[in-house]
Amino acid sequence: MVQPSGGALDPQGPVARSIGELTWLLTGLGVVAFVVFAVVLGVGLLRRRGGERPADLGRPNRFILLGGVAFPTVVLIVAMGFTVQTMRVTPSAAPADALVIEVIGHQWWYEVRYPEAGVETANEVHLPVGRPVEFRLSSADVIHSFWIPELGGKMDLLPEDRNTLVLTADAAGVFRSQCAEFCGLQHAKMGLVAVAEPQAQFAAWLNDQARTAAAPTTPEARRGLEVFRSAGCSECHAVAGTEFDGQGGPDLTHLATRQTLAAAVVPNTRHHLARWITDPDGVKEGTKMPGAALDEADLNALLRYLESLR
Ligand code: CUA
Repeated sequence: MVQPSGGALDPQGPVARSIGELTWLLTGLGVVAFVVFAVVLGVGLLRRRGGERPADLGRPNRFILLGGVAFPTVVLIVAMGFTVQTMRVTPSAAPADALVIEVIGHQWWYEVRYPEAGVETANEVHLPVGRPVEFRLSSADVIHSFWIPELGGKMDLLPEDRNTLVLTADAAGVFRSQCAEFCGLQHAKMGLVAVAEPQAQFAAWLNDQARTAAAPTTPEARRGLEVFRSAGCSECHAVAGTEFDGQGGPDLTHLATRQTLAAAVVPNTRHHLARWITDPDGVKEGTKMPGAALDEADLNALLRYLESLR
């Protein structure tokens, strides 16, 4: 599961690290400038109170030249130098061995594709440690923003254009990504889980995700498949290997392998899955997923079927 972490202040990759260093530098410069300003302001107020005459404004004052011109110029040049340096080390083009992952923003979830492996999933990206990943970012509706704080970013997901972000994870870890551009009612609940894992583990995961769904093996799960059809789930959701090919919502072929539901809003447990199906608005107000009114037997059968999608 996602571990609590320092987010952008706990960089886990080269891009996040250089942006993190720049953040600390700019914060430090800001603090120094603020303290100097506050001290000078304090001194000025106290001296004025003492009845001294204001400085002669008729000729250039050494103090103003130093504090108003020299000091800001030095601060801004230093800040610009380090900013340009950070931009230089942030890759703008992907190396040839980069893994391509397409991320498509929707209100309010993420479609995730691995084009080379023919894999489609949602709200969870897996990436191999140490290998650069070329995220190809776009949107199906409004502007969203892709951001994995520990790995760096952020970058807009645009409806009309494709952006590219190249990130590398240094070590294994599970991070929560957060949509970083206001995109409607559920912007705050538009999350994604990023799993950085060793190459072999990643390859095994990708291999599993590329399989079509196994046919349900128990009578109850088979009944659940019928409920999936009759309750209208298949209007929006696809399950590879079946005739279900709805495109409006997340692909559910390997739903049971995912850590969360509803775009990283609740953990993927039976309890939360039942609630998400029957009362989606209660889990995530404003969600475009309609609730299904099912009796207990049908709901349990449907849960069995969804839990079989491994
Ligand atoms: Cu999507 Cu904010």
